[in-house]
Amino acid sequence: MNTNQEGWFSGGDSSCRPEQPVAAHPCRLVLLGPPGVGKGTQAELLCRQLRACHLSTGELFRAAKRNGASSPMMQEALDTMQRGQLVSDEMVVSMVRERTQCLRCCGGFLLDGFPRTVSQAEELSRMMEELGVTLDAAVSYELPLEEIVDRLSGRRTCPSCQSVYHVTANPPVVEDQCDHCQSRLMQRDDDRPEAIRVRMEAYQSETEPLIDFYEQAGLLQRIEASGSPQEILAKTLRLLKERGVSEQCLTG
Ligand code: AP5
Repeated sequence: MNTNQEGWFSGGDSSCRPEQPVAAHPCRLVLLGPPGVGKGTQAELLCRQLRACHLSTGELFRAAKRNGASSPMMQEALDTMQRGQLVSDEMVVSMVRERTQCLRCCGGFLLDGFPRTVSQAEELSRMMEELGVTLDAAVSYELPLEEIVDRLSGRRTCPSCQSVYHVTANPPVVEDQCDHCQSRLMQRDDDRPEAIRVRMEAYQSETEPLIDFYEQAGLLQRIEASGSPQEILAKTLRLLKERGVSEQCLTG
């Protein structure tokens, strides 16, 4: 159910307008992988196929930055993010808790960037248990470090419509200009080399342990993330199908 994501961005009781019919079986996935591996790119492609909603915690923070941080706590979180460090579990979990309607949504979801620590994963399991819903799989994208650094350092984003480009792999038609709204493309603050290094370290120490966490839960699906976005999408859909993730949500 590709929605306008109002429920996710506004929180509380806000609800979304479905733009597609809801799939017969809602797909509920967690996307894992190092910064820049292509989770956001795959989430956008997958949510059209699975009719699920792309829920990104990083996008919540970037939206708060665009709108002007609403509290000292949010400003502190944005400073933390700019340095490439992880925001506190307490803050991220409370943001997701304010949006539990998205976790129980009949359209399903693709969580991108949450959970990012074992404590967040345990909290997500608790929230889902309380809501009476289950996760279908945790998809872990994997790529050699040098390719990841190339993807991150070449990323350009549109500050108006948030479209994502890559200077060589997915360039805009006109250099530095968004194809959709013609705004001037920018580089994310945390895609500077020093912040990339901090993000990689945070991934290795805090997020990589989630691979074992979801493997032990029997939910892990590893995916080698080389190739074009469409090739990786096809691989992901094939492996999800092989895992028995309901065919009804794999609409193709
Ligand atoms: P977040 O926004 O989640 O960032 P991230 O995990 O670092 O992931 P990225 O958005 O950088 O990369 P991606 O894997 O989505 O790659 P993309 O598809 O854009 O989080 C940002 C920050 O917020 C964190 O550092 C933290 O501070 C905070 N935060 C968020 N959630 C948190 C949480 N739960 N706990 C604590 N803190 C939290 O692709 C990258 C580039 O590669 C693009 O240019 C794209 O065009 C290109 N590309 C994609 N696929 C391909 C391909 N197949 N071939 C060639 N190029 C490709």
